Amino acid sequence: MIIAQNAIEMKEARGRVNASVGFVATMGALHAGHLSLIERAKNENDFVVVSIFVNPTQFREGEDFDRYPRQLEADSILCKAAGVDLLFAPNAEDIYGSDEPAIKSPAITGHILEGKFREGHFDGVLTVVMKLFNIVQPNRAYFGKKDAQQAILITKMVKAFFLNVEIVLCETAREGGGLALSSRNTYLSKSEKNEAYKLSKALFEASKLIKQNEFRSLAIVQAITEVLKPLSIDYIAIVDYELKAIETIKRGETIILIAARVGITRLIDNMWI
Ligand code: PAF
Repeated sequence: MIIAQNAIEMKEARGRVNASVGFVATMGALHAGHLSLIERAKNENDFVVVSIFVNPTQFREGEDFDRYPRQLEADSILCKAAGVDLLFAPNAEDIYGSDEPAIKSPAITGHILEGKFREGHFDGVLTVVMKLFNIVQPNRAYFGKKDAQQAILITKMVKAFFLNVEIVLCETAREGGGLALSSRNTYLSKSEKNEAYKLSKALFEASKLIKQNEFRSLAIVQAITEVLKPLSIDYIAIVDYELKAIETIKRGETIILIAARVGITRLIDNMWI
């Protein structure tokens, strides 16, 4: 496995690859969710690049940038074992200069849901993903549906800027108990973890009701609220694939999103119906 520590090394290595390149962008602390993206990328491409970069611009003041888990050595062992061809692990000075242009997330879809609770978050995500795409020049890039709004906004950016990369959205990986895998799960104590299961439990309950032909968003939101008690809820939203709130759920066109706090840890989960 090649390790590129800066953009110059990455671009040099990319220049030597004359085959299809699959890309998985991560902030490290790799778990089975990331590994499933890597596996899919390996199946569909000749050469797989993984980036590990805890992107400062997508964290707001007071968020968990400083305590975000960093474990490059362990991650690099996982990548090697997973058959990754190139690991790109730059540092912040290499990615960002001063007084630079940046990407602005869309005025509506970038500032609702996560964008409302984490003002500026998606400007940071889109800017770094644009930079990473330009450095890595992948043919396909793999993102998890777990970060639904991120996945939708990246897809919109690719379209808006006519980028030559295919975005592949992949299913959320879950623990046996249903909890969506996230690097932030490492923050949870044992008792908090028991509380965290409520997010997936609420989504499974919603899915059960929809199977029983309950398509009214209001009724589903009420059922989810019950299951989440007594967690502090940031939002429960039922939207279409353009992130527009809908009153009636339609199969194949709907996402149910939850953001809630367990202790000081903020968790998100969703289900694509
Ligand atoms: O999903 C993530 O880990 C990050 O938001 C991403 C896409 C790697 C950008 O920093």
